[in-house]
Amino acid sequence: MVNIGIVGSGKGSNCRAILQSIRDGKLDAKATVVISDVLEAPILQIAGEFGVPNAYLPPGHFRTRLEPIVEEQLVEMLRNAGAEVVVLAGFMRVLKEPMLEAFPRQIINIHPSLLPKFPGLEAWKQALAANDKWTGVTVHYVDAQVDHGDIILQREVPILPGDTPESLHARIQAVEHELYPEALAQVFRDMGRS
Ligand code: GRF
Repeated sequence: MVNIGIVGSGKGSNCRAILQSIRDGKLDAKATVVISDVLEAPILQIAGEFGVPNAYLPPGHFRTRLEPIVEEQLVEMLRNAGAEVVVLAGFMRVLKEPMLEAFPRQIINIHPSLLPKFPGLEAWKQALAANDKWTGVTVHYVDAQVDHGDIILQREVPILPGDTPESLHARIQAVEHELYPEALAQVFRDMGRS
């Protein structure tokens, strides 16, 4: 069993899917903490629902990343929780040296496109604007570049005639909820831990 820490900023549907997979015995992990940089983020309530310790981490004054001292606090919180793998689930800030050095190749992210296509925000809108017929979901290791790093698992999602940003995003999220637990299981196997 692998101890994981989950970090996110928003509604937490991927966090819920992962916690449910653990509860259902499909993923051999223990979520030891859920941390959010957003005080009212539903992801913290979801953690509470599943009995997982959770905490708000005030992010400081920067908009797209944590203040360095705050990022050190994040490292400490995750270490105190015994996290071996850090799972980003809708975390809207870019991680820098403190986290990348503390958890080398142990931080995982999910992104709503087939990377390397459409990194960045609202990737489903980028795919629609490009008139593509397919987009998808990528689970990858986090490195110093945004939405970049070795790919663990990808799955395609069709773009249907008449799709709106909302309908496409919903179809992508349904796939995310399947793919993230599967990808984590693969990571644990690669670690020789399940
Ligand atoms: C997901 O679409 C994920 O791909 C992106 O942020 C979103 C998080 O959604 N990184 P949720 O908070 O898990 O519902």
